[in-house]
Amino acid sequence: MKKKLGILLSGRGSNFEAIADNVAAGKIPAEIAIVISNRPEARGLEVARQRGIPAICIPSKGLDRETYDRLVVAELKKREVDLVCLAGFMRILSPYFIREFPYRILNIHPSLLPAFPGLEAQRQALEYGVKITGCTVHFVDEGVDSGPIILQAAVPVLNNDTVETLSERILREEHRIYSEAINIVLSGKYRIEGRRVILLED
Ligand code: GRF
Repeated sequence: MKKKLGILLSGRGSNFEAIADNVAAGKIPAEIAIVISNRPEARGLEVARQRGIPAICIPSKGLDRETYDRLVVAELKKREVDLVCLAGFMRILSPYFIREFPYRILNIHPSLLPAFPGLEAQRQALEYGVKITGCTVHFVDEGVDSGPIILQAAVPVLNNDTVETLSERILREEHRIYSEAINIVLSGKYRIEGRRVILLED
């Protein structure tokens, strides 16, 4: 049976779209079982519905972290999700959530971690003055953008870059490596040694 992906997002949803394109093209051997947003106005929800992908909002307002996460985990389990993909989901997951999906939650971050975790990573990189930045797909642990790294892609910072132009070029790489990382995890062709994710050859 096809593996099931659960996508969590809070906004635009371009990473979700890239994943959905690859699923539709048969480049990811899985189906998207559910898209969940904590924000009702997230564009990603609309995009999912237009594609006929089940999409729901579970509002987080006023709920403590674990109470909220219990609602989300219940929905993911109900849909028999195998792999959870955070795609611009603007919340930190509780230890409860992480325990329910051990090494089964991925995140994409727009910098070469461990540089520039947290918000506005592209702005942080530009202001710091690095010459190379990029993006990272990693397993989610209890920290902020801190779990074992699956894939990274480098993006040079150009003299005339603004946050917008740099973000745009990083985003193109995000769309490419997120699907690649999903395929690695679904294939099981890796092993984890401490913080290192060792990719295995065929
Ligand atoms: C991306 O830059 C991603 O790296 C970060 O949040 C942004 C989400 O963009 N975690 P989108 O909603 O996928 O377009």
